[in-house]
Formats: sequence, C-alpha cells, structure tokens
Amino acid sequence: MRQPLVAGNWKMHGSRVDNASLVRSLLDLLRPDGGAEVLVCPPFVYLWETGRLLKDSDVQLGCQSVSAEAQGAFTGEISAAMARDVGCRYAIVGHSERRHLYGEGDALVARKFVAAQSHGLVPVFCVGETLDERESSRTTEVVARQIDAVLAVTGAQAFARAIIAYEPVWAIGTGRNASPDQAQDVHAMIRTKLAALDGMIGESVRILYGGSVKAANARELFSMPDIDGGLVGGASLKADEFAQICAAAD
Ligand code: 13P
Repeated sequence: MRQPLVAGNWKMHGSRVDNASLVRSLLDLLRPDGGAEVLVCPPFVYLWETGRLLKDSDVQLGCQSVSAEAQGAFTGEISAAMARDVGCRYAIVGHSERRHLYGEGDALVARKFVAAQSHGLVPVFCVGETLDERESSRTTEVVARQIDAVLAVTGAQAFARAIIAYEPVWAIGTGRNASPDQAQDVHAMIRTKLAALDGMIGESVRILYGGSVKAANARELFSMPDIDGGLVGGASLKADEFAQICAAAD
C-alpha cells in the first residue's frame, strides 16, 4: 500500500509575511488524521524559516532544485547538503521549468538526483512531455528516455528512495490538466517499466501527477490506480485549496 503524497511547489512566489500566513492557515486547515503525507517546497531563501514554522507538524520540507556539485566555486548554486542542513527531506529535480527555461538536460538531472540522494534527500524526480511531443505520439519515448538517463547512473534500486512526478509540460500552469485516463496511462507505463527491472520497486514507488491540479479535479485524478498524489503549483499557494487537495488524497 503506497501512502499518498501531496507536494506544494511554491516556485518563485511569496515573501516572509505571505509564507508565514500560508503555513499557519495550512496547518489550521489540514486534517490531523489525514492519510496523505504533505510536503511544501518554498524558495531556497525561505526554507529555514518555513521549516521553523512546520517544526511541530507532520508537514515535510523540500527544495525546488539542488546543485549537482557537492561544494565549491559554483556561484549561485545551493548544494544538497545545504538543503539538508536547513531541514529539507525532499528535493525536486528535473522540473520542466529547469529543463526548458534553464537548459537542464537528462544527464544533469541524473547528477542532481544522485547528489540529492547522497546527502539524504529524497528526489522528487520530474518527467513529462511537451505538447508537440504528445501530439506526435512521443510521450512514452520521451518519458522513458528521461527515466533511463537516471537509471543508467543509479540503477533501479535508487528508486526505492525516490518519488517520481509525471508533469506533462502542456498541463503546467495552463489550467488544462491531463485527464485522469491520460495521466493513468503514463503512470502505468512508468510503473511497468520499473517493475520490469525490480518488481518490488515498481510496486512501491510513488508516482505523483502534476499539472493544473486543483481542488476540483484532485479527487478524480488521485482515484486512478497508479496516481499516488500530486505535485501542485499554483493551487498550493492557497491554503484552503491546497488543504482540500490534500484531503482528496487521503
Ligand atoms: P501548476 O499546478 O501551477 O500547473 O504547476 C504544476 C507544477 O509545475 C508543480 O511542480
């Protein structure tokens, strides 16, 4: 039985004041006996303070990216060890905005995955196709290639300590979510692919869906057999909506 996980990716939003009020409202609204694990991923500069606000709660802290390097002269980068040091348990790697806006390729994403794990962070490893790729029937090929790039470096065993997030690029921030069937097809493909390498890992790995998840569509998406929760962008900035999404995953 896989425990559902709902992760909020705040992206480059918020301020100290906004975050404090978002976290306080969220903690008020989350059901104390909720069955889903809840994670928030604020911008780096707010990690420490957000972690302090969450310290007596079950809500976990994650960062939105990490450097592939361990330490040194890498201006502007944040290492996995630093993220861990300020209380992170999870790190998003391979988000489509990093891939498409900042040119992070499969090989770099694989190195970030390794860097996160080697410092005790659980990677939330994002995969997903663009609209062009979907319309030219290349979804499976693209997602498989993104996963193979990590597998080639880590092997399947590493996925015992990782989360996968399927985020079709065309669904991110567009209001146009993948239908539950469209998402389920890709999730099942990912699970089958990993199960072919290691049955236990295929069965146990949590695969989140991300892309225009809202309170109105979360329950239907999360009811699909291979969708184990969500990676939520815009709707995670509204405490009441995010709490409803978490409740939908219980
Ligand atoms: P939206 O929920 O805003 O579409 O963003 C999804 C996402 O990119 C989460 O990482």
